[in-house]
Parts: sequence; structure tokens; C-alpha cells
Amino acid sequence: MKNAVKTAVVGLAMFSSAMAIESQYKDFYKYEVLNAKKVNVELTSNPYAQIWKSVPGKYVYLYPQISVRLNDKKANELIAKKTLKRALVKVAYNNETIAVFVQWKDNTPSIQAKYDTDSYADGVSIEFPNKFGKGITLPYVGMGDENHPVTVYLQKTVAGRDYEKVFISEGFGSLTEIKEEGTSIDMKYNKQTHLWTAVFVRPLKTENSNLKAGLVPIAFALWDGKFAERDGNKSLSRWKFIRLKDYDLDKDYLNYVSWGIPSKKLGDPKRGKELMVQNGCNGCHRYADQQSAPVGMAPDLSDIGGIANAPYLKESIVNPNDVIIRNLNPNRHYNKFANPDKFGAYPNNDMFTWYTVNPDGTKSSKMPPYAHLSEKDLKDIVAYLKTLRNWKNFK
Ligand code: HEC
Repeated sequence: MKNAVKTAVVGLAMFSSAMAIESQYKDFYKYEVLNAKKVNVELTSNPYAQIWKSVPGKYVYLYPQISVRLNDKKANELIAKKTLKRALVKVAYNNETIAVFVQWKDNTPSIQAKYDTDSYADGVSIEFPNKFGKGITLPYVGMGDENHPVTVYLQKTVAGRDYEKVFISEGFGSLTEIKEEGTSIDMKYNKQTHLWTAVFVRPLKTENSNLKAGLVPIAFALWDGKFAERDGNKSLSRWKFIRLKDYDLDKDYLNYVSWGIPSKKLGDPKRGKELMVQNGCNGCHRYADQQSAPVGMAPDLSDIGGIANAPYLKESIVNPNDVIIRNLNPNRHYNKFANPDKFGAYPNNDMFTWYTVNPDGTKSSKMPPYAHLSEKDLKDIVAYLKTLRNWKNFK
């Protein structure tokens, strides 16, 4: 090839890959990034504070959490009746503090009566990974995992008391309540607009996490008392990212979290679906029209496209041991073929625990690693998983 032509071809290739990266960033910023506004005033948790009028917001979508099932038939049956939730989110910060504003519509506000265990409260929570940044993979979005603890801020509406809690969490059922100085949360309902508004305030830097960074992961959860929601039964967003302009943006981290965006351009979802069957994913997981795996054997993937980020999905397939999801309620499956103990209780059926515990106490996922798959195969599978956004398939 003549040199001039060669240069032109190489130049064109470089140009088009630069374009691909630009579009990756563009869509990432448009859909996944919450631009925080720097202010020079004190930030409070008052939902009606004047300051929020001048902070721009963005809508975040929340999907019913179904990967991990609750042991409550009635509550589970309500899942198909739920609708996609949308919350308006705004973020402000000053030199020391960050404030997150969350507002959502609810025509049936539910306040849990003090002594009534059959009524469930509306609630809202946000979570931050305790560690994030270059080289650190995203936690399981449903409250973290052992390798990736998160800090969770929770506000619920319980009559007669301010139900406000901060937890360190390593996954469902492993919450440690902590006291965090400088943190406050408030949640108010407006009967005219039917809007709940909550504001979370915390120091940028705490004992457990330092949010002084250019890009900070955050995820949101809402509980709707009307649907008997509590614990893991809730609506959940995927990881979103707060842009704090005062701090440097780490390009490597940006590349990592924006991988696979937009998912429509990532690969061929039709081929991805076929690959999942060829690789036996449907032997353990239920999703879309693949409903033959035993219920509870592995997370239900019917809704994974809304809740999970593309880089997380890729890692889940290549290296399942990085994030091990705690099964919410493993004790409810018994092995009735085994001998009962002296109290007449049957041992657990191991088929429904999602990990094995190694002699050194570490855990291994029951899912085999698929590290042998080619980059193209992985992209096609992730492109397919991203199309799964229908909790109505949950059975
Ligand atoms: C032998 C059973 C088994 C097979 C086969 C299997 N998985 Fe899994 N998978 C699991 C279990 C158990 C978990 C939960 C434990 C963990 O976090 O690794 C899981 C977790 C996942 C998650 C994370 C789910 C979430 O809610 O965050 C994804 C995504 C996933 N698998 C995709 C796949 C894909 C794609 C395939 C095929 C290429 C596959 N799995 C094959 C058992 C399996």
C-alpha cells in the first residue's frame, strides 16, 4: 500500500475508534451521570430548603428487585403488578458535605403504625461503595457484598419516631448499624403534589468512605408500603455516578464504568441469547422465556438489564468469585431425602446456596467462571442481558 493511502486508512480507523469512545462517554454522561452543584452555603436535610430550586436534577429509574427472592408468597405475587419507578435526583456539595435530594410520586403514602407488623412503610435509601476508583470493581448493587462493603442511608416513615439509619452492609442480611457524625436524613410528603421528597446529608469524608473524587458511584432504593415492600423486596436503581467537578476525574475509572454504553452498540443481543443457552446459563438462571431452572437455584435474571451495569455483568460472567451474592433466605430449602437431626429438622438443600465456603473461610461462587469466552461473545451476552428489563416474567 502506498504510504499516503496507508496513513489515511490508519487515520480513519483511529478517527472512528475515537468516535466510538466519544459516544461511549456522551451516553454515559447523558444517562448515568448526576452532575453535582458546588455551593457555598451550609447543607441541611430540609427537603423544602430554597437551595434545591437552583440545583438541576435528573430522573433515575428503579426496577423491582427480583434477583433475590423474599420468602413471602403474597408480597412476591404483587411484583407483577408493580410499575417502573422514577425518582428525580439532585446533588449539591460544599467543601465538607454532600447532600442528595430524591423526589418521587406516590399516590398512596404508607406510614407504618408503631405496633402494626402487617403494615409496611414507604422508605428510601441511598448507598455508596466504601471503596471505589481505579482498579476497584463495582459492588453488588443490592447492598454490597463481602468483597465490596457499602454504606447505606435509610429513611422510613414509621409513626411516632424518626426512623433514620446508617448501615455498613456486605449484602442482604449482613447489616451493621453505625452512628455517623454529621449525617442526617429527612423525608416529607406533599398531599397536593403526591410527592415524597427526601434529602440525605453526610460529610464527604467519613471513617468508612471518602467521596472526594471526580466520579462517585451511588445507587437508590425505594420501598412502597402498599406492595408490602420491605428488606430486599424493593425497587432498585443500577449504579449511577455523581460528578464532583472540584475533584480530578480518573480516566481509567471513567473508561471502566462507562464500558458497554450504549448497550445497543455493544453487540448482537440475539446471538447473546443463543450463547447463553449454548453455555448452559439457563440451567441455573431463569429469564425471559427460559424458565426451566429450579426456582431459587441462582439469581433470577428477568430484570437484570435495568439493575446491573454493563461492566458488572461482564465481570459476573468472567469472574463470579469477585462479587458473591448472598442468598437472602437460604434456610428455607430443606433436603427431605437426608436424615433429620435429633430435633426432627432436615438439613439445608445445598442446591439453593449460591456459594461454597472454603476451608480458609473465603467463599466461592457456585457459578463456573466463563473466562474462556471471547470478547465478542461476552459483548453479545452482555448486550442481551441489558435487554432484560421485565420483572413481569418473574415466577
Ligand atoms: C451452575 C449454575 C450457574 C450457571 C451454569 C451460570 N450461573 Fe450465573 N450465577 C449462579 C449463581 C449461584 C450466582 C450467584 C452467586 C454469585 O454471585 O456468583 C450467579 C450470578 C450471576 C450473575 C449476577 C446476578 C446478579 O443479580 O447480580 C449474572 C449476571 C450471571 N450469573 C450470569 C450468568 C451467565 C451469562 C451464565 C452463562 C454464561 C451463567 N450465569 C451461568 C449460577 C450459575
